[in-house]
Amino acid sequence: MQLLSRSSWIRFPIPFFGLVIVLLVSLASHTSSSTEHEKSSLLQFLAGLSRDGGLTVSWQHNTDCCTWKGITCNQDRKVTDVLLASQGLEGFISPFLGNLTGLLHINLSRNSLSGGLPLKLVSSSSILVIDVSFNRLTGGLSELPSSTPPQPLQVLNISSNLFTGRFPSTIWEVMKSLVSLNASTNSFTGQIPTTPCVTAPSFAVLELSFNQLSGNIPQGLSNCSMLKLLSVGYNNLSGYLPDELFNVSSLEHLSLHSNWLEGDLNGISKLTNLVTLDLGGNEFIGNIPESIGDLKRLEELHLDHNNMSGELPTALSNCTNLVTIDLKSNHFSGKLTKVNFISLPKLKKNRSSFQRLHRHNSRKHILLQQADCTKAILQSF
Ligand SMILES: *[C@@H]1O[C@H](CO)[C@@H](O)[C@H](O)[C@H]1NC(C)=O
Ligand SMILES: *[C@@H]1O[C@H](CO)[C@@H](O)[C@H](O)[C@H]1NC(C)=O
Ligand SMILES: *[C@@H]1O[C@H](CO)[C@@H](O)[C@H](O)[C@H]1NC(C)=O
Ligand SMILES: *[C@@H]1O[C@H](CO)[C@@H](O)[C@H](O)[C@H]1NC(C)=O
Ligand SMILES: *[C@@H]1O[C@H](CO)[C@@H](O)[C@H](O)[C@H]1NC(C)=O
Ligand SMILES: *[C@@H]1O[C@H](CO)[C@@H](O)[C@H](O)[C@H]1NC(C)=O
Ligand SMILES: *[C@@H]1O[C@H](CO)[C@@H](O)[C@H](O)[C@H]1NC(C)=O
Ligand SMILES: *[C@@H]1O[C@H](CO)[C@@H](O)[C@H](O)[C@H]1NC(C)=O
Ligand SMILES: *[C@@H]1O[C@H](CO)[C@@H](O)[C@H](O)[C@H]1NC(C)=O
Ligand SMILES: *[C@@H]1O[C@H](CO)[C@@H](O)[C@H](O)[C@H]1NC(C)=O
Repeated sequence: MQLLSRSSWIRFPIPFFGLVIVLLVSLASHTSSSTEHEKSSLLQFLAGLSRDGGLTVSWQHNTDCCTWKGITCNQDRKVTDVLLASQGLEGFISPFLGNLTGLLHINLSRNSLSGGLPLKLVSSSSILVIDVSFNRLTGGLSELPSSTPPQPLQVLNISSNLFTGRFPSTIWEVMKSLVSLNASTNSFTGQIPTTPCVTAPSFAVLELSFNQLSGNIPQGLSNCSMLKLLSVGYNNLSGYLPDELFNVSSLEHLSLHSNWLEGDLNGISKLTNLVTLDLGGNEFIGNIPESIGDLKRLEELHLDHNNMSGELPTALSNCTNLVTIDLKSNHFSGKLTKVNFISLPKLKKNRSSFQRLHRHNSRKHILLQQADCTKAILQSF
């Protein structure tokens, strides 16, 4: 309307004026028809909230919803992003959000939302990223009809909620674009899903720690040729590490802490990209193989609280990026001097953890003395 000042009303000849009117009317009807639908979907979402953290101040019915707090639109004035992390929201996530046909990103992390995660969002044909972590969402993930077309969803973060139940296999069958699943810190039961890697060739992050998963680490994970992070610590997993797991050479972070897993580390050196290896709190046996020296990128080595034994391998000196070595509560023996700790300049010097190593491992070894502030000097007796 700013286009037509009072003087232009008078100045323009009638035919031109008519054209402007037609243009404006068609523009306006185009805009209002698309945003009315978008706006009402967002207002339905707002209606589902019992505390809106002050959103109503910005989300006014008589304003353009593309200017609302947390909302981004594309050129076609379709809502693409609903980014409302840490807004103090309470209430439930309305399935009406799923009516936004151009929606790409939803971030509702760190609120106090409850109820379920609407199936309409998980099975949306547009959404790429859903982050609803750190809420109080309950229920399970539902099965999808097998006729569901492939989903574009790439990132699903449902961690730190109150979800229960098993992972429905049909979900993985349609999520062919999934890259990252973070479902840590919930109460999921059943087994680790294996299908993502068969159906989703780009699958890279599987974070399921702090749940109640049981069963084995599935062999099927060896089909995850892009898997970078496998984190399933603090569950109830048991059995041997499948040899096939050592084929997943893309792995950078392997965290299996606090389960009932068995086996030895003899295959581990095939995982040459490992940065984090955390097998603590399990039932691993055997020694640390000399081949550990092949893990040149290794920064974190946690083997604490297992039943491992033998001497520390000389080759540990070759893992020159090591920052942390945690071996406490095992049955290691022999001389620590076999390892040239001087070649591990990044190692955090933590006197108390070495003293614990001494206390919980066998008698005749190790004492760490911090003779000067820059280099830890190891003595044995
Ligand atoms: C919007 O979503 C709701 C809830 O899923 C559904 O009942 C309704 O039919 C949808 N409306 C439109 C216009 O798509
Ligand atoms: C969601 O927002 C939070 C807080 O801003 C941020 O830490 C997190 O990375 C976001 N999630 C995604 C998937 O981008
Ligand atoms: C949720 O997980 C995604 C993907 O792993 C990550 O990008 C995002 O930062 C996580 N959100 C929070 C709040 O940590
Ligand atoms: C998974 O989500 C948790 C928050 O619950 C976050 O701390 C963690 O970094 C995420 N992991 C990955 C791999 O994104
Ligand atoms: C890996 O994928 C192939 C082809 O999809 C399949 O035949 C094979 O059984 C899978 N391996 C495992 C261990 O699941
Ligand atoms: C853990 O798994 C074992 C079987 O491996 C089962 O007997 C036990 O009930 C499970 N515990 C929990 C808390 O799920
Ligand atoms: C995977 O590992 C198994 C057992 O170590 C081995 O027999 C098999 O050939 C490996 N497969 C690939 C594709 O490397
Ligand atoms: C630990 O391993 C030793 C053999 O090295 C075995 O005798 C012992 O039973 C194991 N202990 C546990 C708790 O598994
Ligand atoms: C450690 O690295 C050195 C130099 O790269 C190499 O000569 C030696 O064989 C390696 N030792 C082991 C046990 O891997
Ligand atoms: C040293 O190790 C102890 C026990 O593992 C831990 O509590 C402490 O935070 C560590 N200190 C540093 C500086 O890393």
